[in-house]
Amino acid sequence: MTSIGLLGIAGSLRKASTNRGLLRAARANLPDNAGLEIADLADIPFYNQDLAEKPASVIRVLAQIGAADALVLASAEYNYSLAPALKNILDWASREPDNALLAGKPAAILSAGGGMGASRAQYHLRQICVFLDLRPLNKPEVFANAFAGGFDVDGNLIDEKITGLVGESMRALVAAVAARR
Ligand SMILES: Cc1cc2nc3c(=O)[nH]c(=O)nc-3n(C[C@H](O)[C@H](O)[C@H](O)COP(=O)(O)O)c2cc1C
Repeated sequence: MTSIGLLGIAGSLRKASTNRGLLRAARANLPDNAGLEIADLADIPFYNQDLAEKPASVIRVLAQIGAADALVLASAEYNYSLAPALKNILDWASREPDNALLAGKPAAILSAGGGMGASRAQYHLRQICVFLDLRPLNKPEVFANAFAGGFDVDGNLIDEKITGLVGESMRALVAAVAARR
């Protein structure tokens, strides 16, 4: 039975995204009592304080974030930082009164990018988590090289070592949720 609901959010919008591949690997390596949905950010506009009403696409993803017991954030690295699509949905989510969608919520962080596994992006994301009061796991750190044969052409994770780390991360995340209850 699924009693712990996770939401995966990837910063890359492309079909064969390796970061979306990391989220699918997370979904395939969950403890039995957890389920994972993957958010679709393709139609999320840039945050604009002038918008009087939130677009339906934003309302949809914010509802998913609010309903999730924990987040799984997967960031590509763009020019030494996290991808803007991920930052943008976190910006939208952060504007809810009292930071109700994010405050205290556990999160796992995964990343795939160039030779350093998008580590620079991941550490920028960890800095953002401080202000958002998200509670990212420290361990295991999951950095995947997207260009070294660890993913197939569709962005599916095929590297056994990284798959093991993703599973370890999901077990730690579910344990963090259980510890809050
Ligand atoms: C605009 C842009 C900037 C990038 N900058 C970096 C970078 O600074 N460091 C890095 O490791 N990879 C960089 N890359 C490569 C991406 O991290 C790599 O293509 C990654 O696989 C993208 O994630 P995805 O497969 O989920 O789309 C960049 C790619 C793009 C499109």
